[in-house]
Amino acid sequence: MHMHKLEKIWLTFGISCLVIFLAVIGVSAFYLGNKPPSCLTTINPEKVDETKPFDKPGLHKVEGKDWDYELVYVAAAFSYSPAKVEVPLGAKVKVIATTKDVVHGFEMAGTNVNMMLEPGYVSEYTTTFDKAGEYLIVCNEYCGAGHHLMSSMIEVVK
Ligand code: CUA
Repeated sequence: MHMHKLEKIWLTFGISCLVIFLAVIGVSAFYLGNKPPSCLTTINPEKVDETKPFDKPGLHKVEGKDWDYELVYVAAAFSYSPAKVEVPLGAKVKVIATTKDVVHGFEMAGTNVNMMLEPGYVSEYTTTFDKAGEYLIVCNEYCGAGHHLMSSMIEVVK
C-alpha cells in the first residue's frame, strides 16, 4: 500500500509530538521526584511527636540565626497544632511545618505563605510580620471529611 505524502508528514509530526511530550513528562518527573520544591528536609511521619522541633509545636525565640523566632506546626486530620499563637509585631519568623498523616495545605490568608505539607517532609518559610492583626491559616489541599474545619490563627500583636 502506498502512503500519501501528506499523511506521512502528519504521522511523523504526531509521533514527534508524542515523543517530546513523553520526554518532558519524564524529565520533570526525574527532576522533581515526589518532593515539593520547598521540602528539603525529611522526617519519619510516624515519629513526628518525638522529632525535634515538632515535639514542641508553637513559637520559640531563637538566637544567632537570620530569623528571630521559629514557629513550629504539626498538621494532622483535621487540625493544626498550635491552634492559635501570638507573634510580636515586626518579628522575623521561620515557619516550620509537617504533617502526621496525609497531605495538607498551609495557606496564610493575606500573605505569601502558601505551603504544601507532605508526610515525610518538612516545609519551611521565613516571613516578617510587619502588620498587626489576625492571620488565618487554612488547609487548601483536600484531605478528607474535615478538610474545611482545618484552621489555625496567628495574632500579630504590638
Ligand atoms: Cu487538611 Cu485539607
